[in-house]
Amino acid sequence: MCGIVGYVGREACADILVDALRKLEYRGYDSAGIAVFEDDKIKTVKAKGKIDEGLAVKLDEGDTLQATCGIGHTRWATHGEPSDVNSHPIGNGRVSIVHNGIIENYRELKSFLISKGYGFESETDTETVAKLLDYYYEGDPIEAIEKALGDIEGAYALGIVFREHKNKIFAVRKDSPLIVGKGEAASYIASDVTAILEHTRDYYFLERGEIAILSEKGIRFTDIHGLEIEKELQTATWDVTAAQKGGYEHFMLKEIHEQPEAVRNTVSPRVKDGLPNFEECGLTAEKIRNYRNIYIVGCGSAMHSGMVGKYLIEDLAQTPVIVDIASEFRYRNPLVTENDLVVIISQSGETADTLEALKLSRKKGADTLAVVNVVGSSIAREADMVIYTNAGPEISVCSTKAYAVQVAFMYLFAFAVAYAHGKIDEAECKRLTAGLLAIPEKIQLCLDDMSNYQYVASKLINADSLLYIGRGLDNALSMEGSLKLKEISYIHSEAYAAGELKHGTISLIDDGMPVIVAATQSKLFDKTISNVREVKSRGAKVVIICRESVNIDKDCADYKVGLPDAEDLFLPLLSVVTMQLIAYYTAVQRGCDVDKPRNLAKSVTVE
Ligand code: AGP
Ligand code: GLU
Repeated sequence: MCGIVGYVGREACADILVDALRKLEYRGYDSAGIAVFEDDKIKTVKAKGKIDEGLAVKLDEGDTLQATCGIGHTRWATHGEPSDVNSHPIGNGRVSIVHNGIIENYRELKSFLISKGYGFESETDTETVAKLLDYYYEGDPIEAIEKALGDIEGAYALGIVFREHKNKIFAVRKDSPLIVGKGEAASYIASDVTAILEHTRDYYFLERGEIAILSEKGIRFTDIHGLEIEKELQTATWDVTAAQKGGYEHFMLKEIHEQPEAVRNTVSPRVKDGLPNFEECGLTAEKIRNYRNIYIVGCGSAMHSGMVGKYLIEDLAQTPVIVDIASEFRYRNPLVTENDLVVIISQSGETADTLEALKLSRKKGADTLAVVNVVGSSIAREADMVIYTNAGPEISVCSTKAYAVQVAFMYLFAFAVAYAHGKIDEAECKRLTAGLLAIPEKIQLCLDDMSNYQYVASKLINADSLLYIGRGLDNALSMEGSLKLKEISYIHSEAYAAGELKHGTISLIDDGMPVIVAATQSKLFDKTISNVREVKSRGAKVVIICRESVNIDKDCADYKVGLPDAEDLFLPLLSVVTMQLIAYYTAVQRGCDVDKPRNLAKSVTVE
C-alpha cells in the first residue's frame, strides 16, 4: 500500500524525496507526488501513474526546485480513482498533507467543511483532513493537529506541512505505518525504513497519539497536547543490498532462493535442547495446554499458511484449529473466548483487516500471538505475544519466503502443541524438530536446477484457466500454488480438493486444460492418482508434483516435478517451492511484471 516520505535538511530535497519514493514502489501505487517549501510557498508536483511516467516527467519539465524540505507520497487509491487531482500531496496554500489509510467518517467531515465554506477539488477522503487542519489552524500546528485528529475516525499516517512554518514537517499516525529517520544533518519520515536506508539506519517508531516535529534543528516528539516526550532510537540491521535484487532478475526469484536461509532463521532460534521453544514471547507449554481452541487468522498467503497449520496441528495434537480470512473473521462475530489462542499471521504486520481481526480477538479476551516479518509493525505491537519470522525484507508483491517461513513456524508450533498435550513424547518431538531443521538443505536441492520448472511453465503460458488439486496437506498447499500463478501470470486458476472434483467442477475439464496435482502424501497417493485419471481421461494436461523416486505412468501425467526425498509430513515445504517457480517462470514467459503485478499492493493497509 502507499508510501510516505519526508525530508528536512540542508540539501535540495526534490530528488531525495523521489528516490525515497522509488524505494517504496514495491508497496504498490497508482500515482505519486511531492510538496516542497519553495519561494515561501508550498509547491506541489504530482501525477497519476508510475513515478517515471508522471511525477518525474513533470519535475523535469518544471523549474529546478531548490527546496530543502518537503513531503512525498505514492498513492494506492481507495477513495477516488487514480488521477492527477486525487494524487497526494493534497491541500491548499496553507496546509498540505500526504496520507496512508482510510478516513472512515470523511463524508460527515466533508459536509461540515462545506458548511463552513470549503470547496473540494478531489474525490478523496484525504482532502477532508487537509481542509480540517486548515479550518483549525490559527497559527499553532500542534493545536490544529490535536483538534483535527479529535474529529477524525479511521486509519492514517500523515505527513503535514504548514506554509507559515517553513522547513518543518509534522507527522502523526494511527494504524498505518510511519517511521521517523534520524540522519547526520537531516531528518526523515517514511512508511518503512527501506526508503531511507541509504541515508541512515537510525529511526524512531511513531506511536499513536504522538506527534513528530522535524526541522533544521532536528527532531522533537510531543504527545497530542504538545507535551514533549522522549523516544527510543532504533537501528535497522538490514543492509541496503538486502533490499536490492542481489543479481537476480526479479526480487521474487531472489526471495525464492533466500528460502533455505529464511526457514533456518525462523526455526533455529526457536529450538532449545532439540525441542520447540517459544519462551521469547511467553508462549509456554502450560499456556498451550490451557487453550481450548486455536484460531489462525490472516489474508492471502498468510491465511494459506494457516490452512497448512490446521492440518498439522489437528493431525498431530488433536486440538481444534479454526482458520479464517481476516476480512470474514472480523465481521462474523467469531466464537472466540478468553480460553482461546488467536494466531495472527502477517508478513507486513500492517494489513488492515488482519490488524482489526487482532483487535477484535483481544476485545473478546483471547490470547493473541502475532507471527509477522516486519519488526515493530502495527500488528506486532498490538498483539499479546510476537514471533518474528526473520525472513528479511520481502520486496516482491507476491509472497514466497514469507509464506515459507510462516509454514515453517506452523510446523514448529504444531510440534509444540502436540508435545504440550502429550500426543507425542519427547523423543518424537525431537525427531520431528530435527526433521524440520534439516529442511533448508532439501529446499536448496529444489533450487539447484531450474530447467524443469521453465519447461513445465512453457506448457502453461497459453492456458486460459487451470486447476491445482490435492488431498490433505497437498490440498492446503495447492491454495498457495494457485494464488502464486494467478496473481503474477494473470492466468485464472483455482485450487480444488481432488476428491471433490467429481461433484461439479470436473465439468470444467476440456481438452488440454492444465491440472497441477500435488501428490506428496503416501497415504492419499492412490486416491489422488484416481482423481488424476478422472481428469486425464477427459483431456486434461497433467503436471504431477511428487517424490522424484515415485514412478508415474505416462498415461497418468504428462509432466512430473520430482521432489527430494523427505518424510511425507515435510514435503509441502518442498512442493511449494516448485509451485512458486512454476508460477514465476510462467509469468516471466508471459512477459508479466513479476514483482509488481497489476492491481496489487505489497501491504494492503486499507480495507
Ligand atoms: C500473496 O502473494 C500476496 N502478497 C497477499 O495475498 C498477501 O499474502 C496478503 O495480502 C497478506 O499480506 P500480509 O502477510 O502482509 O498480511
Ligand atoms: N485513502 C487515501 C486516498 O484514497 C489514501 C490511500 C493510500 O493509503 O494510498 O487517497
